[in-house]
Amino acid sequence: MDPKTAQELVNQAIEAREKAYAPYSKFKVGAAILTKNGTVFPGCNIENASYGATICAERSAVCNMIANGGADPIAIAICYNETEFAVPCGICRQVLSEFSPKGDLVILMAKTDGTYQETTLSALLPAFFNLN
Ligand code: THU
Repeated sequence: MDPKTAQELVNQAIEAREKAYAPYSKFKVGAAILTKNGTVFPGCNIENASYGATICAERSAVCNMIANGGADPIAIAICYNETEFAVPCGICRQVLSEFSPKGDLVILMAKTDGTYQETTLSALLPAFFNLN
């Protein structure tokens, strides 16, 4: 995708990370989804004392998108720290596949310094479960 749009989305994921609720792991994650019509939906991880009830930043962004009437995601930026390019966990890859059935969703794996690497959902999840 074009570098200016990508950088803006990465910056919004970094901003979303600040809102993370991660008192248990202290591991803050931010995400931002860009949809076809240009709307951006941020997300952050939200932990829970019942650890399994925790939701990742990526799925939080998907929930935000759907609950606000968004559709057709074209890219998601993710960030968690300054040393690693953030990759989505397996559950989040599956959830993202629900809204990118061709796997062409662009994934911007970012560091908190704003640098990023670009890939696609199909590269990270070559096959996914669906009911079609
Ligand atoms: N986490 C995410 O938000 N996204 C991922 O893709 C991996 C993990 C969160 C969940 C938990 O709050 C913390 O990172 C540590 O696992």
